Formats: sequence, structure tokens, C-alpha cells
Amino acid sequence: MTVPLFDTSAPLTALREQLRAAVNRVLDSERYILGPEVQAFEREFAEYCGTSHAVGVANGTEAITIALRAMGIGPGDEVIVPSFTFYASAEAIPPTGATPVFCDVDPDTYCVTAETVRAALTPRTKAVIAVHLFGNVAPVAEIQQLGVPVLEDAAQAAGSICTTGRPGALGTAATFSFFPSKNLGCFGDGGIITTSDEQIAERARVLRFHGSRDKVTYQQIGYNSRLDELQAAVLRVQLPHLDAWADGRRQAAEHYEEAGLGELVTLPKPVAGSAPAWHLYVISHPQIVRIEAALADAGVGRKAYYRTPVHLQAPMGQWAGNVQLPATERVAADHLAIPMSPVLTREQAEEVLAAVRRAA
Ligand SMILES: Cc1ncc(COP(=O)(O)O)c(C=O)c1O
Repeated sequence: MTVPLFDTSAPLTALREQLRAAVNRVLDSERYILGPEVQAFEREFAEYCGTSHAVGVANGTEAITIALRAMGIGPGDEVIVPSFTFYASAEAIPPTGATPVFCDVDPDTYCVTAETVRAALTPRTKAVIAVHLFGNVAPVAEIQQLGVPVLEDAAQAAGSICTTGRPGALGTAATFSFFPSKNLGCFGDGGIITTSDEQIAERARVLRFHGSRDKVTYQQIGYNSRLDELQAAVLRVQLPHLDAWADGRRQAAEHYEEAGLGELVTLPKPVAGSAPAWHLYVISHPQIVRIEAALADAGVGRKAYYRTPVHLQAPMGQWAGNVQLPATERVAADHLAIPMSPVLTREQAEEVLAAVRRAA
């Protein structure tokens, strides 16, 4: 038996008829862009997160650029961002005119902390992007105490929760990706911005439609960046199941813990007060390359997502200077994602463990 790295198909099996009906509803409506499905999904997703507003956009990358601009970030400003994240978290900053400033992460949680952010603060800092990496929940409230607005990059954290609420409602604004493999995925590209700030929501709505409020006069250079009706319709079918899928992901993590994986490798640690819906289950070990090879031999899915951290990627060199991020460089070298999905069984966890044991 092989264990896949993720399983986007099994959770949707029971929903296939509903999904087909949703697609047909859009086809029959002949409304494809910014219609009733998007409006309804925006309402439902805002309610799920606990915010007053949600603004559907084309993907999670443009969600970050648009949210930053809606928060008033622009040329001359600095935005702090971790380097241990998907490239897009930082790539979305320069299009606003601001510059990325890279900060370190806590190697146990893979998330930024108030301390790692503090080390990167300057008088030009205008925002912090707190990435809820792998589904863990970055300590937004502690970072906010530094006095800087926080944009949550919650692309990987739909379904996670912490004592102060859900990702999406913890910072000044937040962004999500609905890329198909995400905890809540659509059938193409999609994204959303959540906020309880009326002005930010309104600016984001204008920016996603070419910088226009009335669609005939244009106030600023914006974007063509909209969630479409088909994607909104399939997301509406799935949203009511997100919490159950998140529980399945937590259960999968428990399978690994109970099987004893933590005796062989370092397991990801939830940030204090959080219950992550693990999007990726990322272990670390000084001999990770050997473990990676053993998993490959056993037919077990695995992937080192961020071997080269973002500040060492060529286009970021102009902003990286000689920043020292020791924890980032260590976890970049040592990490490995192993199978995780809402339907991962105890048997599958034990199969992964057996393969790790052969190498660790
Ligand atoms: C942490 C993080 N930020 C941003 C993004 C960008 O989202 P998208 O692929 O929808 O543009 C992703 C998606 O892969 C991500 O994982």
C-alpha cells in the first residue's frame, strides 16, 4: 500500500452530486462573474471566520497584494514577512510599491513570533504578514502588541482555530487561497480577503475591479482579480464540511503521535492556544535526506516544500541584504512534509512510521 502525500479526492466523493448541481445552477443562471454565488459565499465565509466582510478575488497571491494596498501600504513602506513560507507571501509585496523585510520563525512551530518580528522592525515598517504556516496559527495578538498592523496569510489555515478565534479574524485583515489542494479548495484558482474594517473591505472591492466603484469611471490602477461564480458555487457546497475535514486532519496528527513518530523525528508543535487543521504535516530531523529516501523506497508521499527559503531566491536578493535567519535556514534544510489529509488512517500513519524507522 502506498500512502499519498495528500488526498483531495476522497473527501469530495460524497459531495459529487451536490457539486454537479452547483455547477449546473451557475450554467443555468448564465451569470459567471460577481453574481449571487460570489455574494452568498462572501457572506458565508465571513460568517465562518467571524468577520464583517469577505471580498472574493482571483487567487491567494493577489489577495495579499490587494489587502496590503487596501490597508494603505505603498511605495516607501516596509512589510515584514517570514522567509520560511511559500514564495507568494513575499512576492505579493513589491507590486504594492513597498519592500519586503525578512524575519525569522520559531523552529518548533514554523511561524513568526513577536520576537522574530521585533528584530525586523524599523521606522518604515507599515505591516507584518503573519503566515499561518502549514495550518498552525501564528500568535497574531502578541505581534499586534508591537503596534504594527497584521495581515494574516491564512492560505494554509482554513479550518484552524485558536483561543481568540479563527484565522481570518485575528489581524487587521487576512487572505486565503482556494488552490485545489488547500484545506478548502476550489476547482481552479481562487482567493478571498477577510476583514472587519469597512474601509479596507470597500477599498479591496474597488481594487479587485480595475480600481473602479461604478465600473465606468476609474479612480486608481487596480486589478482584474475576481473570484468567479463557478468557484464560489463549489466552495459553498464544501464550506459546511470544512470543520469536519479539519477534525480529520487533527485526527491524522493524533495517529502519528499515538503511533510514536515523535520518538523518531521532531513533530510540528501547535502554537500555544491553537488547534491547527494541519494543511501539511511537516516533520524535521538532522538526517532528513535519509528519511526522504526511505519514504520514497516505501512508496510514501513526501515533499520538502521550502528547501530554499524565500530570502535566498534570486529575485528577492535585492531586498535580502545580508539578513541572518538561522532558524529559517535550519528548518529549510531539515523539514519534510509527510502524508496528511482529512481521511488519513491509523494504518497509513503506521506505514509511514515503519518507513521512517528504517532510516531514523
Ligand atoms: C502561505 C501561502 N501564501 C500564499 C499563497 C498563494 O496562493 P495562490 O496560489 O492561490 O495564489 C499560498 C498558496 O500556495 C500559500 O501557501
